[in-house]
Amino acid sequence: MQMIRTQVGIIGAGPAGLMLGHLLDRFGIDSVIIEDRSRDYVIERVRAGVLEQATVDLMIATGLGERIQREGMRHEGVQIAFGGRRHRIDFPTLTGGRTITIYGQNEVVRDLIDARLRSGRPLLFECSDVSLADLAGPRPVVRFVRDGQPHTLQCDFVAGCDGSHGISRPSIPLDQVRTYERAYPFAWLGILAEAAPASDELVYSLHERGFALFSMRSPQLTRLYLQCAPDENLDAWTDDRIWSELLLRLGTDDGWRPNTGRIVQKSVTGMRSMVVEPMRWGRLFLAGDAAHIVPPTGAKGLNLAIADVAALASSLRSFYRTENERSLDQYSKDAAARVWRAQRFSWWMTSALHRLDADSSFDARRQLADLEHLVSSRAAMTSFAESYVGGPLAPVDGEP
Ligand code: APR
Ligand code: PHB
Repeated sequence: MQMIRTQVGIIGAGPAGLMLGHLLDRFGIDSVIIEDRSRDYVIERVRAGVLEQATVDLMIATGLGERIQREGMRHEGVQIAFGGRRHRIDFPTLTGGRTITIYGQNEVVRDLIDARLRSGRPLLFECSDVSLADLAGPRPVVRFVRDGQPHTLQCDFVAGCDGSHGISRPSIPLDQVRTYERAYPFAWLGILAEAAPASDELVYSLHERGFALFSMRSPQLTRLYLQCAPDENLDAWTDDRIWSELLLRLGTDDGWRPNTGRIVQKSVTGMRSMVVEPMRWGRLFLAGDAAHIVPPTGAKGLNLAIADVAALASSLRSFYRTENERSLDQYSKDAAARVWRAQRFSWWMTSALHRLDADSSFDARRQLADLEHLVSSRAAMTSFAESYVGGPLAPVDGEP
């Protein structure tokens, strides 16, 4: 049995766990990151790609700016398509200069892994049988198996950054937290295609056959999604069928349509909303998808994960400086307030842009009226733009 000692045990090497380790390292706080998958798996899985202004600012301010400033695609607006027309919402003019950047989650993860390796602090891939104990007391422990050997990690705190299927959230007794949930009766079929993006900006479209989204990953790669059934069988979707549905739902009367190309990845993503409160039990803190899930429509999942750990790193730093637990109590309150703002926005965007089988003709017309209002009222566009580009994060430099 190997014993390891650290200040913060971090479960999960997704964006939340890796960014937390990075911020703590900058504060001189030691951590060990424990991940059950391999390094290649973590880097290569295709996930989100829209970074809020504050996420990009944080990366640059903490020494992770080099590649994102070179390769990230800065967007000054998004387009909303319905009734055969595209309407543009301009971010800088409505938000005092804020923008978004397209940079894949896997690129963020790659940059964070490189930074972790430079720091020399432990990042342990392929750990199995991970379990948590003694979370209510001052010396929580994490147990896991690596290379066939059992290990025990003794910590001051544990950060549960292990996503929606991890072990951290289920380690909290059911009566200690409240879970708020909502399921949606549809999913997204997503593809990555070798095709140059046909627009410089994302296009969110509501068509009578359902939602579709045009996005991108690089000047050579287009990312596209279409609304489908939650139990959709991917085998029933040939490449031809996917393209004809996407072109139908996204094409507009001015002749615009996405470029087509070889499909290099296909998957179905379910849609749900979930929040656990409080995001803390004893010495266990939850962050990112372990604490909350948003439907992808508002592009908030990755940004919320980063906002959580900025707040958590700042709380932990205050604790280590002052030995005062007040900052620890504040974490869940601050993080949950942002989470609920993002939940509201993600729920609204999802409802505004998806078709339900049960919708009446009234519902369909009201939905169009909602979008018409969005693109014709400056107040509505401002509210949308503020939510989409996101607000500031907890300070991670300077005095707490
Ligand atoms: N032990 C160790 N690691 C685990 C365990 C476990 N028992 N269970 C899961 N993990 C790992 C996963 O393999 C994954 O690498 O935890 C990590 C969680 O990462 P993410 O799922 O990416 O979650 P998070 O870091 O919170 O980032 C949220 O991911 O799903 C997207 O849209 C979401 O962009 C958002 C982001
Ligand atoms: C993506 O590019 O993957 C993406 C973009 C916008 C969203 C969701 C996903 O709202």
